[in-house]
Amino acid sequence: MYRELETSKEDKGSYWIKTFGCQMNKADSEKMAGILQKMGYKEAQTELNADLVLYNTCTIRDNAEQKVYSYLGRQALRKKTTPHLKLVVAGCVAQQEGASLLRRVPEIDLIMGPQHANRLETLLNQVDNGSQVVATNENQILEDLTAARRDSNICAWVNVIYGCNERCTYCVVPSVRGKEQSRTPEAIKIEIEDLALKGFKEVTLLGQNIDAYGRDLPGISPSGRRKNTLTDLLYYIHDIKGIERIRFATSHPRYFTNRLIKACAELPKLCEHFHIPFQSGDNEILKRMSRGYTIEKYKRIIDEIRDLMPNASISADVIVAFPGENKSQFKNTLKAVSEIGFDQVNTAAYSPRPNTPAASWLNQLPEEIKIERLRELNELVEQTAKIRNARYKNEVVEVLAEKVNPKDKDQLMGRTRTNRLTFFPNQALGNVAYKPGDLVKVKIQTIRSFSLSGIPLI
Ligand code: SAH
Ligand code: SF4
Ligand code: F3S
Repeated sequence: MYRELETSKEDKGSYWIKTFGCQMNKADSEKMAGILQKMGYKEAQTELNADLVLYNTCTIRDNAEQKVYSYLGRQALRKKTTPHLKLVVAGCVAQQEGASLLRRVPEIDLIMGPQHANRLETLLNQVDNGSQVVATNENQILEDLTAARRDSNICAWVNVIYGCNERCTYCVVPSVRGKEQSRTPEAIKIEIEDLALKGFKEVTLLGQNIDAYGRDLPGISPSGRRKNTLTDLLYYIHDIKGIERIRFATSHPRYFTNRLIKACAELPKLCEHFHIPFQSGDNEILKRMSRGYTIEKYKRIIDEIRDLMPNASISADVIVAFPGENKSQFKNTLKAVSEIGFDQVNTAAYSPRPNTPAASWLNQLPEEIKIERLRELNELVEQTAKIRNARYKNEVVEVLAEKVNPKDKDQLMGRTRTNRLTFFPNQALGNVAYKPGDLVKVKIQTIRSFSLSGIPLI
């Protein structure tokens, strides 16, 4: 049984956490906030009056990393006038730089890689005993029952697999997040059952490559198939009472099986939204990225999803201006985006990262090409998203109300099963009132680039 969010009687002062990067970091931050509250820290009103500041950092691209240094610079200055301030750097920059961060910012008290998030209390105790601590060694992530301090009380992240065993030639993640470590199905189920008891309605299962789940767990079924796959996990957790919706992210095309697609179509709580990065529409580039699939295979996956779930929304990540990418290879990416018709695409220009093969190649592209290709791709992405968005007009969709719209207290906001942010009044005709946690049928009237609005039907 997971513990209730605990708060200690001891007053440790106030904390401020700023999270950069992906959902994995957001989940880790919620966990670390839970640990801090248990230790006796209270949430600070602002970053500038906190007694403990924790940056949970990202290094996926150079600009993400640089952002962290500018935040750190400000806090280092503050420490001159506030010597008791504790400065913690967690996450992927911490792992990448380790002790060398101390040379750059000697004011830091604790540097801790992502595999140490659960160990925050032990590490801070060492700081309290007067040490400057660096925790970046490879670590077996242990189950920890401290309740996370979650941002939402309706939707929750649930880690199912940590790390990444791929070796994409551009990517820093395997070196900062370490080897794949899957949690056991039992531990995942216990966490979700506990969330259901606390009133949560939606869970998003998380992993860098969520569909690679279970490769490091034992178990072969009588038919010779691996037993602990993501598909098996979905069936195993599906019927937990109280949970209405299940999502998962991020998926790697290499592991997205036909069996998984069938399970998603068959299981009613599984939401029809799939985030499957394809990175490039050109097979030669995909090969040099070491992605392990062709664009034809990727399209087959999307076709199979749409065969069984015609309404599904599909999103992806794409990189432009990978080293040596020529004009026609870039055009192949544009072609894939317009042919597939994505609901959303996260785009980025290639950024060379430390300790990755592609960073040392000599065929790097100039900044102007990166900017121009990114601009051209973004324009296309916007057009295709608009076309996809149009299908919601006058549709009746199911929305899970997550919270009151902070800008209009008479409105609720939530998401469709396909992950579209949707606003609607909290009263329907006939004075039916809705509240966060309700599943509401909403007729869509207004379509915007990133959100929808409509009226609830009784
Ligand atoms: N595990 C996921 C992606 C995780 S990283 C997958 O394999 O699909 C999130 C995204 O950041 C990637 O999908 C990629 O599009 C982008 N990214 C990673 N490294 C990058 C780099 N060096 N330059 C630019 N974008 C990068
Ligand atoms: Fe990075 Fe590739 Fe792993 Fe995704 S699969 S995190 S892009 S190395
Ligand atoms: Fe960034 Fe680390 Fe996530 S590098 S994208 S925070 S895994």
